[in-house]
Amino acid sequence: MTVCEYKPGLEGIPAAQSSISYVDGKQGILEYRGIRIEELAQKGTFLESSFLLIWGKLPTKEELTAFQTDIIYHRRVKYRIRDMMKCFPETGHPMDALQTSAAALGLFYSRRALDNPEYIREAVVRLLAKIPTMVAAFSQMRKGNDPVKPNDDLDYAANFLYMLTEREPDPLAARIFDVCLTLHAEHTINASTFSAMVTASTLTDPYAVIASAVGTLAGPLHGGANEEVISMLAEIGTRENVRPYVENCLEKKMKIMGFGHRVYKVKDPRATILQNLAEQLFEKTGYDKYYELAVELERVVEEKLGHKGIYANVDFYSGLVYRKLGIPTDLFTPVFAIARVAGWLAHWKEQLGVNRIFRPTQVYLGPREAPYIPIEER
Ligand code: SDX
Repeated sequence: MTVCEYKPGLEGIPAAQSSISYVDGKQGILEYRGIRIEELAQKGTFLESSFLLIWGKLPTKEELTAFQTDIIYHRRVKYRIRDMMKCFPETGHPMDALQTSAAALGLFYSRRALDNPEYIREAVVRLLAKIPTMVAAFSQMRKGNDPVKPNDDLDYAANFLYMLTEREPDPLAARIFDVCLTLHAEHTINASTFSAMVTASTLTDPYAVIASAVGTLAGPLHGGANEEVISMLAEIGTRENVRPYVENCLEKKMKIMGFGHRVYKVKDPRATILQNLAEQLFEKTGYDKYYELAVELERVVEEKLGHKGIYANVDFYSGLVYRKLGIPTDLFTPVFAIARVAGWLAHWKEQLGVNRIFRPTQVYLGPREAPYIPIEER
């Protein structure tokens, strides 16, 4: 067995063989099952992309209709889970509420018939259908409201915005939100997907797999960055403060949220699409002062860090779109999770097909053959 050298963060180390998505970090290319993200964002829907990622092909009209119908049917959440969520502190972070309620689903559907394609399909449908409902439900409950029941007449993206705001969204807003979900659905072996795969490799249930991934996505170095970007723009406040802010971060070796990527050494193609979506929204609903700041911040960071391959990533512009859609800042990462459930499930299903439990090795740095010192002598 060839033992490769230790690489911090497993940088550049393949952890799996996969056919789900492809990233070229130098060219700024992202493909889902070989189809460019730009095509899917422009021509497809999130549910189509989810079907493509999970079952490896674009659905026929009949397959997509059946998939959508199943998801609409399964959007509702057991009252026991809703009652549990009512006990969550309203000050709790929505990602913690989501991780808890996602794991709780396993209490109701824990049969681990992982070799049964029907069980796999049921788990896929239930998780894609119920995660948005749980995110929206906690958002309502923490305000003292009852959850808003899913609206069966609305599609996936529109229904989430409806459950969140109690208003049917404008068609442009719903379409833009659907594109955001497609853009966030999958991204090869990122930290939360790797977490899902490691959990899946023990053959536990899919609800535990998703709960592991949600907990991993929550961190500010990963999915939590989109929320941090808005706080950063608020702190910068004015265009004049952009350069001093960046120079201060660099001096203190602080990471600037929304920039840099382990794989992309050019601007994340998703950031480009999200920036265009933000501009479309602003044209219709009025500019957001943070947008000008964001554009100036991107310019200064590129000037200072472009030579190191540090450019805007997916989290940099997404928050500006979500703000305009009326999504609270601390729900930005749960929205990322709603989309990424598709990618996590795709890797869960792929992993089951070739499973071997993840158990890497280590480079041991500690002592050997050490004596046990009695407490009186310590
Ligand atoms: C996502 O992996 C995925 O695919 C993730 C994702 C997905 O779709 O799943 O794309 C989603 O998580 C996007 C990333 C969101 N996170 C952020 O925006 C947080 C800020 N970014 C950084 O923390 C960082 O860029 C990471 C975590 C994204 C990548 O970290 P790496 O690859 O471990 O890079 P590193 O920390 O080793 O940095 C290498 C150098 C260092 O400088 P030197 O010590 O070599 O001089 O680049 C510098 C870093 O200081 N650097 C930054 C920086 N990111 C890297 N300097 C300032 N600001 C930054 N944002």
